[in-house]
This record gives sequence, structure tokens and C-alpha cells, in this order.
Amino acid sequence: MELKNVAILGPGGNVGAAIITELLKDGSRFNLVGITRKTSTYTPPPNTNITHKSVDYTSFHSLLEAFTGQDAVVNCITGGATHYEPSKLIIDAAVAAGVKFFFANDYVGHLTREQFKRLPESFVGAKPRIREYLEELGTQGKIAWTGLTGGPFFDMWLMKGPAGFDIANRHARIYGTGNNPLCWTPLPTIALAVANIIRNPKPVCNRPIYICPFPKNQLTQNILLSTLESVLDTKFTIENVDVKKINEHAKIALERGEAGKAMKGLAVSNQFYEADSGNDFSHLVENEVVGVNTMSVEDAVREAIQRYGEDFKIVEGMFRVEPCEI
Ligand SMILES: NC(=O)c1ccc[n+]([C@@H]2O[C@H](COP(=O)([O-])OP(=O)(O)OC[C@H]3O[C@@H](n4cnc5c(N)ncnc54)[C@H](OP(=O)(O)O)[C@@H]3O)[C@@H](O)[C@H]2O)c1
Repeated sequence: MELKNVAILGPGGNVGAAIITELLKDGSRFNLVGITRKTSTYTPPPNTNITHKSVDYTSFHSLLEAFTGQDAVVNCITGGATHYEPSKLIIDAAVAAGVKFFFANDYVGHLTREQFKRLPESFVGAKPRIREYLEELGTQGKIAWTGLTGGPFFDMWLMKGPAGFDIANRHARIYGTGNNPLCWTPLPTIALAVANIIRNPKPVCNRPIYICPFPKNQLTQNILLSTLESVLDTKFTIENVDVKKINEHAKIALERGEAGKAMKGLAVSNQFYEADSGNDFSHLVENEVVGVNTMSVEDAVREAIQRYGEDFKIVEGMFRVEPCEI
């Protein structure tokens, strides 16, 4: 299957822009179309052959028109908008337009199907249901699909706060032991893998793929702390956080149907709390299939700091996660 005409939904977002940066390395090999909402402020990067189309995401005909002639649709719409019905409309329009390959909007951590089912859609969007729909269409031969998971984006989590580090102020919040193994992937590596799939989709047609450039057990909060201290040649002040309590409160809130309250605590426990983690997908990783190389934590830390800047300001609400009120 050769993919030449590629439509990217959400081309100006974190993921969309990173994928475009990677695909542009192939010069004129791909005809890229950035698809946005009508209200979007997106403009394609200068001196590129990217065309820009705006659509009405609530209109089948608008989507059908935009997708006609495309070989692939790569969905990079923001996580909060990955609801089932709007996503299904996008997929149905792609099928009707004769699109060969659909890149699902996954990019989440690993959860088993059972774990997914226990969570409200507000926590992970409708991604598992969308996956099931794509599996059905793939089996019927209507469209080929894939979805990529690399866990949390290493660079965003490290620099924006969720990893527990305020680099500008040299302060760390260590959740529990700080030793739970993490499966995370920097965004440029995610984009490289996506682009390699678009370059050669056959190996991952009609199935998901997992990547992580760090070898098993080589990434934990404590390893991140020592790497940051060594790279920045300084010590961090350390605050020990009761992740058990965060987890217990989040689960009580979830049982009471207060998913909004529970979300941050569940995300933190999923990454950092050994007793209720479920974030380890190292046994599923297939880096070699999509051209992802092993990377050292030190290189990843250096690259993230270089890209964001040492003084980058964390998002306080993502950094300072406490047990929710119950
Ligand atoms: N694993 C991780 O750590 C991690 C981190 C971040 C994101 N993600 C996942 O990666 C995917 C892409 O996220 P992102 O951070 O790249 O997204 P983003 O930058 O927040 O947004 C991407 C684009 O989505 C479009 N958009 C916003 N609301 C929309 C709506 N209601 N309907 C249609 N389009 C809408 C906007 O484009 P226009 O206004 O130009 O149309 C926006 O530029 C999501 O699935 C997200 O969950 C994972």
C-alpha cells in the first residue's frame, strides 16, 4: 500500500505539527493537507507544499469532500475532543471517500481492555470504543488502520510538570518510592514512528503498535531525578508525596461517579504507584518495526531541556497533584 496524499487533522497541534515536521524531511514525496476547523488560526509552515482545508467536523459531506482523493487520514485532534460519535463520523467519511489508511488518535498509555472498561469515557475519551469500531472496519476490509502508543510524551511530562519536576526552581515531587518503571516516549520519537508507518504502513495494518525508546526498567522518577541533577549539575529539593492516598481518594471519587475529580489522581497512580499502576507495556514494544532506536535517559533529558528551555514554567495544576477531596 503506497500512501502519497496524506490528510492531517489538527496539523497545528502538538502531535500534528511534530508529524508534519518529520514528513517534511521527505521533500515532495507526500502531498500533505492540513485539515482544521473553520475557526482555526492554523497556517502551514512557510516554504512547504502543505495545503490547508477547513471543514465542519459535524458535517459528513464536508468531511467527505475534504477526504476525497486522500490515501491516508491521520487524526491528531486534541484529546478532549476524542468523543465517540464525532470520531465515528470522521472515520465513516474516510471510508466513504475511499481513504486506504486511517491513523487513529490514540497516543495514550497502556491499559488492558478490562481497565479501559472500568474507566469513564471522560478519562480516556472514547478511544477504546473507536479502536473497536476500526477493528470491525478493518476486518470487513473497508479501511486499514493503526494506532500508536508510546505512553506519556516524555518531553511534555518532564517539562510541563506531570513528571513531578519543576526544573526552573530545582524542585522535585517524588510520588511514593519513585521506583515504578515508566514507559514514556519523547514526542519527536512518536512523530518519527508515525512518519515511518506512513512511509511503510504494511507491517502495522489493522493492529495497534507500541513503542518506547528506553530499555525496560531504565526509566523511573528516581532515575529522572539523578539524571536531571547530573545534567544540570545541581541538587533538587525533594518533596515526598503520598501516592497511596492520592490513589485511594481517586478511586473513591471514581466509585461515586465523580470522574472529573478522580482524573488527575488516577493518572498519577497509573504512572507512579506500584500497587495500582498498569502502565507497563514493555512486553508489547516493537520499536524495530517502526524504526525507533534505543535512547539514553540522559540524551532525552538534554533534548527536552534544550527544546523547552531550562526556565520553562510548569503548569502548576499538572505538577502539584494532591489527594482529591472526598
Ligand atoms: N501521551 C501523552 O502524554 C499525550 C500528550 C498530549 C496529547 N496526547 C494525545 O495526542 C493526541 C493529539 O493531542 P495534541 O496535544 O496534539 O492536541 P492539541 O495540540 O491540544 O490540539 C490539536 C488540534 O485539535 C484541534 N481541535 C481542538 N478542538 C477540536 C474539536 N472540538 N474538534 C476538532 N478539532 C479540534 C485544534 O485544531 P484547529 O483549531 O486548527 O482545527 C488543535 O490545534 C490526542 O489524542 C491526545 O490525547 C497524548
